[in-house]
Amino acid sequence: MITKIDEHTITDAALEQMSTTSNARLKEILDALVRHLHDFAREVDLTPQEWLDGIAFLTNVGQKCTPVRQEFILLSDTLGLSSLVNHLNDKRAIEHGTTTSLLGPFYRQDGPSLPLGSMIASKVNGPVIAIYGKVTDAQDNPLPGATVQIWQTDDEGAYDMQKNEEVMDLRGVFQTDAQGNYYLRTLMPTGYMIPMDGPVGDMIRAQHRHGYRPAHIHFLIVAPGYRELVTALYMRHDDHIDSDTVFGVEDSLITMPKKGDAHSPYPEMPSIHFDFKLGAAAADGTGRVGADPSQLVKASH
Ligand code: BEZ
Ligand code: FE
Repeated sequence: MITKIDEHTITDAALEQMSTTSNARLKEILDALVRHLHDFAREVDLTPQEWLDGIAFLTNVGQKCTPVRQEFILLSDTLGLSSLVNHLNDKRAIEHGTTTSLLGPFYRQDGPSLPLGSMIASKVNGPVIAIYGKVTDAQDNPLPGATVQIWQTDDEGAYDMQKNEEVMDLRGVFQTDAQGNYYLRTLMPTGYMIPMDGPVGDMIRAQHRHGYRPAHIHFLIVAPGYRELVTALYMRHDDHIDSDTVFGVEDSLITMPKKGDAHSPYPEMPSIHFDFKLGAAAADGTGRVGADPSQLVKASH
C-alpha cells in the first residue's frame, strides 16, 4: 500500500520498513529512537540548516576521538545521558552496594599494579593524603584479594594521558589484604574543567555552563562473584560540588580528608576513610558506563 509521506506519516512509514529487524532488542531500541527523533524534529520544527549544523557537530565529535580522547563519552556525560544510564543500571542490582558514579573518559584498563601503601603520584607537588578502608560484601564481610583501581588528576587538574599519552601517573591497581583492607597515598585531588578544546567545549560555552567537575578520585573495584563497582569520592570543600558538569556527585560519595585520624595507617597525614561495599553479581553484563578510550577506538575498526 502506497501512503502519502508527510510530516506525520513518515514515522509510521519508517517503523513499518524497519519491522523486519530480527533482533528483538535491536528493533525495540531503533523503533524508540526513530519515534523520539521524529518527535524531537517536529517539536522544534528543525530547519535544514539546523539539521546540517547537527550533522557537522556530530562529525566533529567523532573526528575528535583518539585512543586517549573520547569526545562521544564526553558528550553523553555532559548531556546527563551517562548518569541516566548509570542509574538505570543500578536498578538492576540484586544487592545494594556502595553508590556508583561515572567511569569518565580517562579510565585506563592497564594501570600499574602497586603494593598496598604506595604513593600513586610520581611528583609530590601538592598536599599528600592517605585513603584507606575495607572492601566488603553487602553483609559487611571483608573481601580479601579484591582489585581496587584508582585514578585521578594531578595538581593542575590534568590526567596523565592529557599531558603525555605514553606515561601513566596518578593511577594504580591494588589488591586488598587478608582482612579486606586497602590503603594508599596520593595527592589531594583538584577540581578541573572537562576538556573544552573540542565540540563539546563549544556546546558548554554556548550554554554558559562553567564546565568544571568538583575534585574527586575514581575507583573501580572488582571481586569474583560480585557486581563490579565503578564510583568516585568527591571533596566536600569544592566550589562545584553542587553543579558537576557531568552529574556524577551523590551525597553518600562526598567526603573530606581528616587530620589526626588515629586509625589511619598514616596518622601523620590527612586521611580519607571510606569502606566500599560490593553487591552480589547479577547476570546483566558490565556495569561500566564508559571504557578505556583506546579500546573503543580499536573496537570501531
Ligand atoms: C572524569 O571524571 O574523569 C570525567 C567524567 C566525565 C567527563 C569528563 C571527565
Ligand atoms: Fe575524573
